Amino acid sequence: MLEDGKLYIGTSRKPDDTINKGEYLELKFGNRHGLVTGATGTGKTVTLQVLAESFSNAGVPVFCADVKGDLSGIGAIGEAKDWVTKRAEQIGFTDFAFQEFPVIFWDLYGEKGHRVRTTMSEMGPLLLSRLMNATDAQEGVINIAFKIADEGGLPLLDLKDFQAMLNYMGENAAALSSKYGFISKASVGSIQRELLILEQQGAKNFFGEPALKVSDIMRTTRDGRGAISVLAADKLMMNPRLYGTFLLWLMSELFEELPEVGDPDKPKLVFFFDEAHLLFNDAPKVLIERVEQVVRLIRSKGVGVYFVTQNPLDVPETVLAQLGNRVQHALRAYTPREQKAVKTAADTFRPNPDFDCATVITNLGTGEALISTLEGKGSPSMVERTLVRPPSSRAGPLTEAERANVMKISPVAGLYDEDFDRESAYELLAKRAARATQQAEEQRQAEEAPPPAAPGGGGWTLPGFGNDSAPAEPKPKARSGYQRETIAEAAMKSVARTVASSLGRALVRGILGSLKR
Ligand SMILES: Nc1ncnc2c1ncn2[C@@H]1O[C@H](COP(=O)(O)OP(=O)(O)OP(=O)(O)O)[C@@H](O)[C@H]1O
Ligand SMILES: [Mg+2]
Repeated sequence: MLEDGKLYIGTSRKPDDTINKGEYLELKFGNRHGLVTGATGTGKTVTLQVLAESFSNAGVPVFCADVKGDLSGIGAIGEAKDWVTKRAEQIGFTDFAFQEFPVIFWDLYGEKGHRVRTTMSEMGPLLLSRLMNATDAQEGVINIAFKIADEGGLPLLDLKDFQAMLNYMGENAAALSSKYGFISKASVGSIQRELLILEQQGAKNFFGEPALKVSDIMRTTRDGRGAISVLAADKLMMNPRLYGTFLLWLMSELFEELPEVGDPDKPKLVFFFDEAHLLFNDAPKVLIERVEQVVRLIRSKGVGVYFVTQNPLDVPETVLAQLGNRVQHALRAYTPREQKAVKTAADTFRPNPDFDCATVITNLGTGEALISTLEGKGSPSMVERTLVRPPSSRAGPLTEAERANVMKISPVAGLYDEDFDRESAYELLAKRAARATQQAEEQRQAEEAPPPAAPGGGGWTLPGFGNDSAPAEPKPKARSGYQRETIAEAAMKSVARTVASSLGRALVRGILGSLKR
């Protein structure tokens, strides 16, 4: 049942319920994206687990969010639970073996996994506006803030950098407005309040350095299996916008960082987007358009994106149209919206003359799904009623001790644990303000004396303050536990940006507004 170049998902049934044939996902179409949908309790998480296992065994790294904590078991060897052995027998899965998988746990709050951070600069104005649910006027101000920072080589790393930038904009609103367009003090104030709320919700943990390097979620083991990165998302789900924005940022980061590979034999990474409705729920049209664009283009970087959600109507049609591999678990059809969902789901499949999709969707058993994957030259296979195979790893959560153990031996242990607060906008603006005050004071005292000469070239410039001093050294905290490499890299990045800006090249932002290399 295990075949080269193909991932075994389950076995389909004929109309008389006898076993039909194995259903597979072809690795070479793994980057053609996918969709897993179904009502609650119908088997979505197990399907995701099964797919993640198979990708990992095929050497493809996986990133997924663990919304309920029950996906963490993928890091432990499976157990002969009743439904597991029963399903294996039912489908005649003779190659079935229990197995544990190489997992890396991540957590924005640093509690159930390694810390995941990014900087405000990396995230960019579009996603930040989404995160803060900004009005048009506020978004305008956020855009200007990034423009000033990008042009001035002022790293916006953490929340206090952004606060400092907003203070600066508020204090210099009149002067800056003439250069950048109208800056309303009211909007600045409301963004500042929104930032405080974000801070109280724990976003402070998420913005800063060392930022997550995408290479760390693209690791493979020595024996050639892909690492499965599991993001602890139970707490994160309490703040759905942060959850959605984070995953979008990660997707855009992958898109901006990875080289073009065309259509590889197998994906470089697959990315599961659980609770995908949170991404699109009342998202502005422009954001949905950009997401659609990134999903379309990321394919040629070898990244497969799989949306997991209850209702296929949760995903905008333009995005839906790009999802080649489909697993549809049971749906209920009581309300008109549910009926519409059933119809939409049924209509997207290549029909099977043996059954009516819409009828079957409402009658599927647990762990059973309508499945169609890409085949041949990339056309959808005829839809089949499929019993999904049981997972080889544990279905259900790891204990705390097991999780701690996995984290201890993780390849990224120690790399992200401590904050690294290098000199950035907050410190630089504070210094400049102090210097400006001092200069004003000196000028007043000297009265007729000429103003002090600006230090020569190569420095950062900031509107309103003239030329400034040379790039600052990173200032690692005294008791730092992170590895040297990370500091050096962060410093390099900082220097590279400074050089770019002093050469007059503004930072370039990609489709979703994150930084381009
Ligand atoms: N492939 C399968 N074979 C047999 N039983 C299954 C299979 N998949 C799921 N089940 C049964 O269904 C239960 C629920 O599955 P799962 O947690 O995957 O549902 P879900 O759709 O993710 O639910 P929720 O929406 O609540 O997260 C499992 O504990 C198991 O008993
Ligand atoms: Mg689930």
